[in-house]
Amino acid sequence: MARDAWEYRGRWALVTGASSGIGKAFARELARRGMHVALAARREDRLRALADELASAHRIRTLVLPADLGEPGAAGELWRQAAEGRDIHLLVNNAGFGLKGAFHELPLERQSEMVRVNCIAPMELAHHALNRMRGRGGGIVNVASVAGAQPIPLIATYAASKAFLISLSEALAIESREAGVRVVTVNPGPVKTGFQAVAGTEVRDRAPGIRTPEQIVDAALHALETGRMTVTPGLVNRLAVAAVRVAPRGLAIRAAKAVMRRLR
Ligand SMILES: NC(=O)c1ccc[n+]([C@@H]2O[C@H](COP(=O)([O-])OP(=O)(O)OC[C@H]3O[C@@H](n4cnc5c(N)ncnc54)[C@H](OP(=O)(O)O)[C@@H]3O)[C@@H](O)[C@H]2O)c1
Repeated sequence: MARDAWEYRGRWALVTGASSGIGKAFARELARRGMHVALAARREDRLRALADELASAHRIRTLVLPADLGEPGAAGELWRQAAEGRDIHLLVNNAGFGLKGAFHELPLERQSEMVRVNCIAPMELAHHALNRMRGRGGGIVNVASVAGAQPIPLIATYAASKAFLISLSEALAIESREAGVRVVTVNPGPVKTGFQAVAGTEVRDRAPGIRTPEQIVDAALHALETGRMTVTPGLVNRLAVAAVRVAPRGLAIRAAKAVMRRLR
């Protein structure tokens, strides 16, 4: 499908979860391509250090927006601050976290917080963004996960939260296309970031399908530029997702449980 060229330079992006890992890599790359960046996360000191670095390296404008997206109402307030006096052209819904363990043993409040950060906040931000972008153009990148491709025991709420985000994001991609808004779903496999320390998992340096944060960002931005709806970086990860689609569901879920049990 022919698409207009995607322009970065001189426009504003809002990146959630910019204090670490994939979000930080998004902020760096978007600034390198000439975007002004609004950076959101809880750890303000990290956001400020990144903002200073990017402003002096690329002569762009930056905005630091401390926000706890696990708090009800925080996403709406974040959008209000980001959009005040600025036209946000690209929203990167990246903030998120996982928790490994038996569903009944993981603290309920932490799991509810996970749903607010991984599902409610991106949904609310996408709603605000689409209302602003429809007709005048723009883009939304939702960072989901290969974990959203199927139910996964021992990380059940996380996998379900990413399944929600994939479903929402892909529906919005089709809903918004004719209004000139590109919505991209990116499904990373394993990436070494702060994610593992929070989730209580581990990734080996040579884990199958492992990618760097920069590779995830390149794949997502390429999809944005070319008008692709969904991207799963890494052949191994794409094969895993394809296998899940054709395997009997019970078998796939039992296999996922066996893999999760072996993960330290
Ligand atoms: N790493 C992987 O293997 C992997 C695989 C598939 C998908 N993903 C997804 O990739 C995204 C980025 O994760 P990452 O791997 O880059 O992990 P990370 O290094 O731990 O970064 C997570 C980011 O989310 C932010 N965040 C977490 N809770 C938040 C809250 N309550 N309010 C606001 N911001 C919050 C963190 O900032 P603060 O702590 O400063 O608030 C941090 O900037 C997540 O959505 C994750 O699910 C990761």
